[in-house]
Order: sequence, then C-alpha cells, then structure tokens
Amino acid sequence: MPKFIVGNWKMHGSLSETHTLLGQLTEAGASFERVEIVVCPPFTALFVAKQELEHSRIKLGAQNCYIGSDGAFTGEISPSMLVDMGCEYVILGHSERRQFFGETDELVARKIFAALEAALTPIVCIGETEEQRESNQSESVLSRQIGQSLSKITSAEAGKLIIAYEPIWAIGTGKTATPRQAQQTHAFIRAELRKKFGSVANDMRILYGGSIKPENAEALFREPDIDGGLVGGASLNATSFLSIIEAAGA
Ligand code: PGA
Repeated sequence: MPKFIVGNWKMHGSLSETHTLLGQLTEAGASFERVEIVVCPPFTALFVAKQELEHSRIKLGAQNCYIGSDGAFTGEISPSMLVDMGCEYVILGHSERRQFFGETDELVARKIFAALEAALTPIVCIGETEEQRESNQSESVLSRQIGQSLSKITSAEAGKLIIAYEPIWAIGTGKTATPRQAQQTHAFIRAELRKKFGSVANDMRILYGGSIKPENAEALFREPDIDGGLVGGASLNATSFLSIIEAAGA
C-alpha cells in the first residue's frame, strides 16, 4: 500500500499563499508516484486550492465539519458542502479541536458518521497528553478514544477510515516520538482496531503526526505499522513538505 501523507495547514494560508504553495507542489508532481497526498487548507482557501489542484494527483481535504447536511446552524459547514467544494477527506477529532473547542468523543463519533454518509473519508485523530503518558495512561486513553469515537462504525465502514495517532506532547513542540515508540503505539492501535473490526484493521491506514520533519520522516515511515503522516508545520513550506513526501516514497 502506498504511504499516505496529509498536510494540515491549520489556521494558515491566505489565497495568495495557497496559490504559491500549491503551485510549487504541483510543479514537483513527478516525484509523487509512490505516495498518496492530501492537503487540508482552511475553509476559506478550499475553492482556490481545488482550482490549483485540478490536474494534479494531490487530493483536497478539510480540517473539520459539522454533523448535519444543512439547516439553521450559524457558522457551521456540512460534509456535503465540503464535497461540493471538491473535498474528498476531512480531519476529525484533532486534539486542537478537542482541547480548544470542547469536542468530545461523542461529537467526533457523530461527525465521522456524517462525513461517511456524505462519502467523505474521515481522518480521525487520537492521542494522549504528556501527563497521561507520564502516568502510564496512554493505552487506556487511546483505547477509550477508539471505542467511543468509532462507536457508530461498522466493520465495513471502518475500512473507509484513516486513523492518525498524534501524541499531543509532540504536536508543534519539536519533540517527536521515536520510531520505536511510535511503532509500538501504532501496533497497539491496530490491535485495538482488530478487536473491534476484525481483519479489516490489517488494511486500515494509521498515520503518525506530531513534529514530522524531513530529518525524522524516513525513519518513522520505515516502521511496519506507520502508514504515513499527518504533517502540520512542515506542510506549510514546499521544500520541507516535498522532502517528507520523498521520504514516504523511498
Ligand atoms: P505538527 O502538527 O506537525 O506541526 O506537529 C501536526 C498536527 O497537529 O496535525
């Protein structure tokens, strides 16, 4: 299975920055043969991004969505609106949404369900805090997040999900899990998914996220249960994102 690399731009990217960055990425398109790539710009840049990516293999994703398809929900954006905009993916349950916007596993579960109904592929984020890790709670936290966030999902639907393990202590901090630590956790996550969904879990993609950089990417992607990466900061610069893509295709 080709590695899968997602760029999470977070709240970055004016229209002109989107144009420049995607122009640089699409120009380098020839090196993408063995890697699947998704970029997730902010909502306001999706339309421009779709136009920039028209003849490219890079796919488009969003960073969040609401649970309904339409209605009186001021300020929200539905999965079908994202599809209308050309998105095929949506990041759900990112730790920043859980931490700063109060998203619970229950809400994430409903969002996953809504995204799948609209034929969007959810990229579901899970991960423990530094405190939880230090008090040996990582596995119980991950197991709870998997159990509750994926509570509405059947085994057939599970095959359509992408999971992203992002230890919160590694996000934007420059600290990365070592390849060994990440592999152990990914193997644990796959075992949990197998308990819940059976053999479908063997082919589910589990991405690593948290301070992925050109310098650490290749070693992480060499691990058997690391199927790719969710890249924040380093996806905002064409040179560093391209070298991460190259590491994934190595
Ligand atoms: P980072 O972010 O690569 O900047 O650590 C990853 C993420 O939050 O998805």
